[in-house]
Amino acid sequence: MFKILKKEALAPTLSKFVIEAPFIARKRKAGNFVIVRATETGERIPLTIVDSDNESGTITLIIQAIGKTTNIMVGMNEGEYFLDVVGPLGHPTPVDYYGTVVCVGGGVGTAEVYPIAKALKDSGNTVLGIIGARSKDLVILENEMSAVCDELIITTDDGSYGQKGFVTDALKDIMKKNKELQGIYAIGPIPMMRAVAETTRADKIKTYVSLNPIMMDGTGMCGACRVTVNGEMKFACVDGPEFDAHIVDFDELIARNKTYEDLEKSSLQNFIQESECQVQDAKTE
Ligand code: NAD
Ligand code: FES
Repeated sequence: MFKILKKEALAPTLSKFVIEAPFIARKRKAGNFVIVRATETGERIPLTIVDSDNESGTITLIIQAIGKTTNIMVGMNEGEYFLDVVGPLGHPTPVDYYGTVVCVGGGVGTAEVYPIAKALKDSGNTVLGIIGARSKDLVILENEMSAVCDELIITTDDGSYGQKGFVTDALKDIMKKNKELQGIYAIGPIPMMRAVAETTRADKIKTYVSLNPIMMDGTGMCGACRVTVNGEMKFACVDGPEFDAHIVDFDELIARNKTYEDLEKSSLQNFIQESECQVQDAKTE
């Protein structure tokens, strides 16, 4: 059992959790993830470790309420416990001195790119950051990213904060001004990661993305997370989750992630209806 020590709402559907997990905190490196099962019947949810504190023995996770299980998790509070937290899993991001690098976070993907930006900065790189969200209320970790980036550009799709447009618009501007970029790290929704890959392909700038296929065990046993990279089958949980963006088969990833879309939708609908009934019952009692 893993105790929730702190919970903070970051945006309407996004919450940050600080969890007591001393063994994971001790071993974890930037790019690692955990698989969390909130309750006995809950799905296994893979989540990047956003931060950790070895002294207090804690890890930080950011959870977006998308389906039934993530809604249940985001509804949990300080003092409650997640049933299992398994990790650290996956390869850590290879962090070294490269020169000037760009870290791009799209929406909740900012939570995943932040530890990488921090590790790259600690290794002496010049880190240019871009974070994008649909609107101002969905921008997360602005202060944290500012603290580890030499420059930070914020974009919103609707122009309600920062520069109007997508993260790729800001990336194109950076690429025009900096001809010596040594690498791009992009994490966010799949269409964003694919768009970043296309933006950097012609200039052959090394571009890494963190893939988020369906996962089950997270240890290379079940095959649920298989992706095709450079024509070869890889398991994102043990071979990744980061891969060279220019050789990822994004079409296959999108198609595989839709496998249980209908079931996920109906499960969420049922959950919302049950929750509403419980509220009604409580009112009439
Ligand atoms: P979102 O849809 O709000 O997009 C965030 C930003 O990404 C946008 O503001 C825009 O700047 C950029 N973007 C989106 N589509 C783009 C496109 N076609 N071209 C260029 N830029 C584009 O993101 P969200 O709601 O926070 O996240 C949605 C999805 O991302 C979820 O399904 C989640 O599973 C996935 N996700 C993936 C990872 C990962 O590890 N790859 C991490 C977190 C979330
Ligand atoms: Fe089972 Fe990767 S999640 S092999």
